[in-house]
Amino acid sequence: MPQRRLFVTTALPYANGNFHIGHIMEYIQADIWVRFQRMQGHEVNFVGADDAHGAPIMIAAEKAGKTPQQFVADIAAGRKPYLDGFHISFDNWHSTDAPENHQLAQQIYRDLQAAGLIATKTIEQFFDAEKNMFLPDRFIKGQCPKCGAKDQYGDNCEVCGAVYAPTDLINPYSALSGATPVLKSSEHFFFRLSDPRCVAFLEEWTQDGKLQPEVANKVREWFSVRTNADGTQSEGLGDWDISRDAPYFGIEIPDAPGKYFYVWLDAPVGYLASLKNLLDKRGVDYAAYMADPTLEQYHFIGKDIVTFHTLFWPAMLHFSGRKTPDNIFVHGFLTVNNGEKMSKSRGTGLDPLKYLSLGMNPEWLRYYLAAKLNARNEDIDFNADDFMARVNSDLIGKYVNIASRSASFIHKKFDGQLASNLSPKSKTALDNILQEFTTEGVSFDREGFISERLKEREFGKAIREIMECANLANQYFDACKPWEMAKDESKLFELHEVCTVALLAFRQLSIFLQPILPTTAENAAKLFGESSWTWADTSVTAGKVYEHLLGKTINEYQHLMQRVTPEQLEALFEPPAQTEPAQNAANLMANTLPGGEELAPTITIDDFAKIDLRIAKIVNCESVEGSIKLLRLTLDVGEGKHRNVFSGIASAYKPEDLIGKHTVMVANLAPRKMKFGLSEGMVLAASHADEKAQPGIFVLEPGPGAVPGLRVR
Ligand code: 2FM
Ligand code: ZN
Repeated sequence: MPQRRLFVTTALPYANGNFHIGHIMEYIQADIWVRFQRMQGHEVNFVGADDAHGAPIMIAAEKAGKTPQQFVADIAAGRKPYLDGFHISFDNWHSTDAPENHQLAQQIYRDLQAAGLIATKTIEQFFDAEKNMFLPDRFIKGQCPKCGAKDQYGDNCEVCGAVYAPTDLINPYSALSGATPVLKSSEHFFFRLSDPRCVAFLEEWTQDGKLQPEVANKVREWFSVRTNADGTQSEGLGDWDISRDAPYFGIEIPDAPGKYFYVWLDAPVGYLASLKNLLDKRGVDYAAYMADPTLEQYHFIGKDIVTFHTLFWPAMLHFSGRKTPDNIFVHGFLTVNNGEKMSKSRGTGLDPLKYLSLGMNPEWLRYYLAAKLNARNEDIDFNADDFMARVNSDLIGKYVNIASRSASFIHKKFDGQLASNLSPKSKTALDNILQEFTTEGVSFDREGFISERLKEREFGKAIREIMECANLANQYFDACKPWEMAKDESKLFELHEVCTVALLAFRQLSIFLQPILPTTAENAAKLFGESSWTWADTSVTAGKVYEHLLGKTINEYQHLMQRVTPEQLEALFEPPAQTEPAQNAANLMANTLPGGEELAPTITIDDFAKIDLRIAKIVNCESVEGSIKLLRLTLDVGEGKHRNVFSGIASAYKPEDLIGKHTVMVANLAPRKMKFGLSEGMVLAASHADEKAQPGIFVLEPGPGAVPGLRVR
């Protein structure tokens, strides 16, 4: 088959949180497919990016006291441990806020405008009068107008998948302030999806058989005008509101000051931006690459974002004169131990970084998820017991076992050398394991069957067949009773062939498993003195699988994989430390703290951020006439003026002890009128709760080099 050119993406994650197990599942699914395609000799560009824009990120950044740019950069900086950790082989990771995306999104918009598909309309939109801003869809909640589900977002329903305007919600409320939003008008830009050209195009594009059948059926509902069972009419495809008013973190709409693209317009453009960034780095011409008629484009996504990818995105591409995706591969949600679905916003039961930090092998998870995945958008469940059983009995008990048992004989009895010839009997045995098999009277070529399943993303079926092959190899090995042969000098010749056959079968299994277990396969390849394999290395019929290996000395067998332990799984699902009972225990212990008081109730980082602590220089200090407790401090906080602060530290310090020193002060404490004058802040000092019983006051001092005005955080 000639080499194909593939451009593959996963959905771009919002840059407002770390990856959860749902993201990792999608990346693993796509990565297995990509690695398989690469093994087939095809050229693949596999890219991802952060989805940086939108009001939720803008609001989260503000809360964190960062610019949106800094906020998303900080999130992006945390991506690598996950991607490397789970062996996800992206060729590039970029951001939708990158210049390529600004430029591409604006160009696509201009092209759509030239095609007559952009319209403006003044619309009434929900406005939060308490917050003084138009409310982003995600910050208006209410009941879904289609299915009645409660607490649904303003743009689409997570329960029934309906897409609607926020004003369609029943009993709406502002998620920012809780206020009932009021309607206010503003001019918006629309992509005219209701244009007959768009409807005709999408009817064809979504129903021509490329999409998964369940996806195509679902999509059909969104653009067909139809009469419902109760006689009411459902609307066809509506125009899509693609603009948002400032303040908004996004891409400016050309020639429309104060208007920005809605995040979902520029998000998928980020696929192209990441690709362009990759090609630019490699010195490859992006326009020429995209113009190649043989280029195939695929997006792996979750079932919650189907409408964006099967309606809006292909229409944007098509009517801006660009190539449309060849397919959209939709997967279901992942649940953990039959728990709640892993939605984007909610927590997860399986923390990917915790998994890695416990020393759990990422390829266990890749294997387990692959065993459960199919080509449909069905939900799958991660079940701890099932996980342990499959990894330990399939991967270790069947697959790894073949190598460890046969390699040890080869080393002990044959100086690490494989048999230099196989008798017809041994060749037949190997063929029986690796070649044809028959199901319900139909014969299949095993390699062909497995590669077809991987190609069509039926990973579970591929794994079942690979494990069937491993069963045959183990059965063959056991039936030959090599441990008995090893004791009988006259059987050594036979033993040599049996172990060689088993190792050759193991090698073939490793090639099949390489897209799923890349590192394990790489280590397996080292045993044979090979580096990673291509799919061509599986070719049994040509004898290619073993001819060059006969008589070869293999390398020392290194153990390929450990077993999963129940302790690891227990630790993985152990709830985070700060549960209520744990908190109580902490409080009990506080009674014995040297400070003599319990820890104050937990505050959030946001609570802490309200206190503005600054380095201050004590430029002067004097006793206060009429007070034995107080000292009067004159402080420089770098503001160009001095502050007057009274502090109850006279029992511990003489004024001259403090002059010239630096300390820490609360700089945003409301000024307080005292008997001796105005106090404009407070300096920090440590003391025991019972000062009389345990005297001693310790004014805080920063380390050397701190200058007035530096913030303490
Ligand atoms: O649903 C999400 O998490 C979006 N950030 C996915 C965007 S996919 C693509 F369009 F960028
Ligand atoms: Zn609904």
